[in-house]
Amino acid sequence: METSLAPRHVAVIMDGNGRWAEKRGLSRINGHIAGAENVPKVANILFAAGVEIVTLYAFSKENFARPQAEVEGIFQRVKAFALSFTERPQVNARVYFTGEEEGLPADLVAACRAAERATKSNGDKALNILLNYGGRSEILRAARLLCGEPVTEESFRSKLLFPDLPDPDLIIRTGGEKRLSGFMLFQSAYSELYFCNALFPDFGVREINSALADYRSRERRFGGIKTP
Ligand code: IPE
Ligand code: IPE
Ligand code: MG
Repeated sequence: METSLAPRHVAVIMDGNGRWAEKRGLSRINGHIAGAENVPKVANILFAAGVEIVTLYAFSKENFARPQAEVEGIFQRVKAFALSFTERPQVNARVYFTGEEEGLPADLVAACRAAERATKSNGDKALNILLNYGGRSEILRAARLLCGEPVTEESFRSKLLFPDLPDPDLIIRTGGEKRLSGFMLFQSAYSELYFCNALFPDFGVREINSALADYRSRERRFGGIKTP
C-alpha cells in the first residue's frame, strides 16, 4: 500500500450509526454497537496506510442532548472499547481519551485512564478518541485559562486540550453531512476536508482508500501560492 504520501494525522467524524440501525429496523443502540465494532478496523487500516495519528470523534458535548438511554448505551460501548486495551488490544497504538471529564460516569473515566496507562509505551502510532469534546468549549476554556496573560497563537495553543498534537491534515466525515459539528475548530483551520456518504458502520477499506487518494491529489497552500 502507498505510504509515502500518507497524511500524518487523520481525523474521522464518525457519523451515521443511528441511521445505519434505523435502515435495518433496529434500535439506534445497535448502530452504536456496529460503529464501535468498526473502530479498531478503521484505525488499523489508517495505520497500515502510514498514518501516524488517528483522531476519532466519538461523543460531542452536544450529544448529551440525546435520550439518556442512548447516551448510556454509547458510554457502555466506549467503556468496553477502553477496557479492551487492558485485556485484548485490537490496535497497537498509544491511546488517549480527550475531552471534558466533568459529566462523564466515573467508571468510564477510570476505564479510559486505564487504557492510557496500559498503552503508554506502545510504538509510534497514536489513537486519540474525543469523548465529551466540544470545539467551542475548548476555545472558551483556553481563553479563560489565559485571562490576564499575553495572548499569542503559541500561548493560546498551550491551553487547548491537545497542545502537542499536530493539526489534522485530513478530516473525514462519514454519514453524508457536510459540517464539522464542533470538531477541532481551532486546529482544523488548514485541514483538508473529505465528506463521504457511507454510514460509519459501513466505512471500510474502500472508502478509506478513496479518501486517502483524494488527499494525495490536493495541493496544500496554507495561504501561499503553488510551488513551482
Ligand atoms: C454516531 O452517529 C456518532 C455519535 C454522535 C455518537 P449518530 O448517532 O449521530 O448517527 P446518525 O447521524 O443519527 O445516523
Ligand atoms: C457529530 O455527529 C459528533 C460525533 C460524530 C461524535 P452528530 O450526529 O452529533 O452531529 P449533528 O448533530 O448531526 O451535527
Ligand atoms: Mg449524527
